[in-house]
Amino acid sequence: MDRRLRSQNWFNDRDNPGMTALYLERYLNYGLTKDELTSGKPVIGIAQTGSDLSPCNRIHVDLAARMRDGIRDAGGVAFEFPVHPIQESGRRPTAALDRNLAYLGLVEILHGYPLDGVILTTGCDKTTPACLMAAATVDLPAIVLSGGPMLDGHWDGELVGSGTVVWEGRKLHAAGKIDYEEFIEMVAAAAPSAGHCNTMGTALSMNSLAEALGMSLPGCASIPAPYRERGQMAHATGKRIVDMVWEELTPSKVMTREAFENAIVVNSAIGGSTNCPPHITAIARHMGVELDIEDWQTHGHDIPLLVNCQPAGAHLGEGFHRAGGVPAVIGELIRAGKMRDGAITVAGKTMGELHSTCEAGDRDVIRPYDQPLMEEAGFVVLSGNLFDAAVMKTSVISPEFRERYLSTPGQEDAFEGRAIVFEGPEDYHDRINDPALEIDETCLLFVRGCGPIGYPGSAEVVNMQPPDALIKAGIMELPTIGDGRQSGTSGSPSILNASPESAARSGLAIIQTGDRVRVDLNTRRVDLLVDEAEIAARWADYKPPALEHETPWQEMYRGMVGQLSTGGCLEPAVHYHRVVKSLPRHSH
Ligand code: FES
Ligand code: MG
Repeated sequence: MDRRLRSQNWFNDRDNPGMTALYLERYLNYGLTKDELTSGKPVIGIAQTGSDLSPCNRIHVDLAARMRDGIRDAGGVAFEFPVHPIQESGRRPTAALDRNLAYLGLVEILHGYPLDGVILTTGCDKTTPACLMAAATVDLPAIVLSGGPMLDGHWDGELVGSGTVVWEGRKLHAAGKIDYEEFIEMVAAAAPSAGHCNTMGTALSMNSLAEALGMSLPGCASIPAPYRERGQMAHATGKRIVDMVWEELTPSKVMTREAFENAIVVNSAIGGSTNCPPHITAIARHMGVELDIEDWQTHGHDIPLLVNCQPAGAHLGEGFHRAGGVPAVIGELIRAGKMRDGAITVAGKTMGELHSTCEAGDRDVIRPYDQPLMEEAGFVVLSGNLFDAAVMKTSVISPEFRERYLSTPGQEDAFEGRAIVFEGPEDYHDRINDPALEIDETCLLFVRGCGPIGYPGSAEVVNMQPPDALIKAGIMELPTIGDGRQSGTSGSPSILNASPESAARSGLAIIQTGDRVRVDLNTRRVDLLVDEAEIAARWADYKPPALEHETPWQEMYRGMVGQLSTGGCLEPAVHYHRVVKSLPRHSH
């Protein structure tokens, strides 16, 4: 203990006995001793994201005991504190509103309290980016502990993945194959234990990318929540963060440009969520690293799909873990020359030192690089006269979709159709079965008003299913386009996260039902085929829909939020970097 740590400015400042006494006395009042707080040990925060409101992360309430043991064993003192809850499945109108709110709150905590390092307890979709964004802004030594996926779900003899089962079940229900009770039972079967989603949805994707960024110990992301290894990982993580404080291993040393490129590559290989581009971009911007939506095309598109997990494949979190998890995927990518293997990790070793010899234990779940499930499986980044940027997830384009829309001789990877435009999900649900719309397999479904400003927060609604009549006729998918997002557990090949959104006056604001639209994956364009004069006339008549704020935060959020292509960040916040360098003024 050769260095005076940040926390000692609170707990052991002999030049300022008045304030030191004030800080010490209240933290002693539940049994901590003066010696623990004044002897110069690292004070480690446990940023607790679990609660009864956040069941996906609730395992962390129990894991905290093992984190504390690890912190204590390595010579630190633990302070556990709550992070604003973010529950993907329960929060209305959308958990996306809370990512930036939790971020702001965590920045203030890490800056304003006597902490020398922090364990970020991650899991449910937005908890991972919220915590990493805050760690990036503050630049206090930080390490991710994932809560882990639920055990695999089974229903009627088949694997059923959380989230994914809902989108599949909706189709069975619409086709009259299951009733209401069976639908609920089938969905509940996908969630057999504590933990976050067991599919390769946004939660498992983002925890895998936290590991690919180098921000968790190797193997952390995939351990199912109830496994004994999860508690052991919590203990190891607690020990490691104490050493990281002494080593001054801060997020800015780990989350470099190289690390973000690694995350993009791994996301393609795992068949990761379409929510990852906004989250990874937001973390990069708060870290002060240049990262563009086009980087997903440049570094991600050509990477093959190696992981056979739902929604792009068949297996779930337990199978992924037993096959070797993220280390086995990174091992394949390093040997194929696709990773920046010199990137440093929170383990204090490089990606190459940790993973270059890692191999998968089950080749059906994690494929060798040269025998992938699909070649060129990353996102396609699209633009055109409707928006400047949107993404499409190649790895979930089904053979039927490819056959119907992307295989016309002489027109491969391009199609034209008639637009059906919905003003948000309520309008979609009200009218999708309206025979007057004459929806057939040549139609493209659009939804607007669902971006960060419009919804507000940006809703997961672009994976719209076709009218019941088409589903009964065996047409399970139509092309869908929108300024919202969709669940990472959805297997729909939507064109989504369109930026700018309609509420920020992109072309999406003036498209009308009946318009012709052309999608061309070769040129990576989506265009409204309406002449310039007509477009100008529509803008001249345009009246933006009124935005109703339901809470104070919704109004503040709308006033500050950027677009999904640049991370959906609070724009005034992205200028703050390394705020740990300033020591806040005394409180009294
Ligand atoms: Fe929380 Fe999927 S709903 S992880
Ligand atoms: Mg979701």
